[in-house]
Amino acid sequence: HRHLLGIAGLQPWEIEFLLDEAEQWVDLNRQASKHDDRLAGLTLINAFFENSTRTLLSFEIAGKRLGADVVNMHAAQSSVKKGETLIDTAVTLNSMRADAIVIRHGSSGAVQLIADKVGCPVLNAGDGTHEHPTQALLDALTIRRRKGQIAGLRVAICGDILHSRVARSNMICLSTLGAEVRVAGPPALMPPAVESMGGTPCRSFAEALDGADVVMMLRLQNERMQGQFIPSPREFRHLYGLTDAKLALAKPDALVMHPGPMNRGIEIDSHIADNAERSAITDQVEMGVAMRMACLDVLTRRRRGVEGWA
Ligand code: CP
Repeated sequence: HRHLLGIAGLQPWEIEFLLDEAEQWVDLNRQASKHDDRLAGLTLINAFFENSTRTLLSFEIAGKRLGADVVNMHAAQSSVKKGETLIDTAVTLNSMRADAIVIRHGSSGAVQLIADKVGCPVLNAGDGTHEHPTQALLDALTIRRRKGQIAGLRVAICGDILHSRVARSNMICLSTLGAEVRVAGPPALMPPAVESMGGTPCRSFAEALDGADVVMMLRLQNERMQGQFIPSPREFRHLYGLTDAKLALAKPDALVMHPGPMNRGIEIDSHIADNAERSAITDQVEMGVAMRMACLDVLTRRRRGVEGWA
């Protein structure tokens, strides 16, 4: 079996293949009856060691729409709270003969550790500040559907880059697909190795926004701060928040994106987030279900005796 632990290492054709696979599920999800039973008899476990609304629910809905039996494990209500180790938890999930396991964890690398201990495909639903591959795939699907193609686009990723697994996965994904990815944020929230992930670090927000086709704003992740100096919320909005004046620097038809959850009025002004023409934020959530259906289908093909992906 093969896992989906990150975008790093995926070939452009593999990313395009997953995006193409998701299109059929976008169509199905817009019909009154949203059911396909190709995962009937399979058990999907969603093990979430960190909070989530979009990722957890969309994996649950994706599994159910494909006919799988879906079980959710919330770490806060599990034996993790009694001190059970991550590896013992993985071995326990494995013994229940899951056919796919989706994991979110607060530590970078934790999902890889679990993947090494289980006998089924593992999908990374976000590990620490490392990767969030299905988010990058759903973002790429959203951009491809709204802009027609990804190659040649200028994408600005702005905000708390340091703590963002979404920024990492998106830099790798969009640059692999041929986009120019410009990255900007407060100096204390810029990671050192942006170029190695396919991004171009910018000295100012204005430089990143200049002529952008897509503006992706990121959440200020207050829960992950470790003493970094960051501006106050008012200063942050002034310097790095997406306002009308700053959005005017991007192309007139620039698409506005945010993975959610948003800090409205800090990294993005509410009326921009809610502008149905400019903002693709609700599209991103819709694409998330279709993209996760595609990932679950493709990764369990070998198990189902269907021609596999790798
Ligand atoms: N975008 C995202 O991962 O959102 P959740 O934390 O709600 O899953």
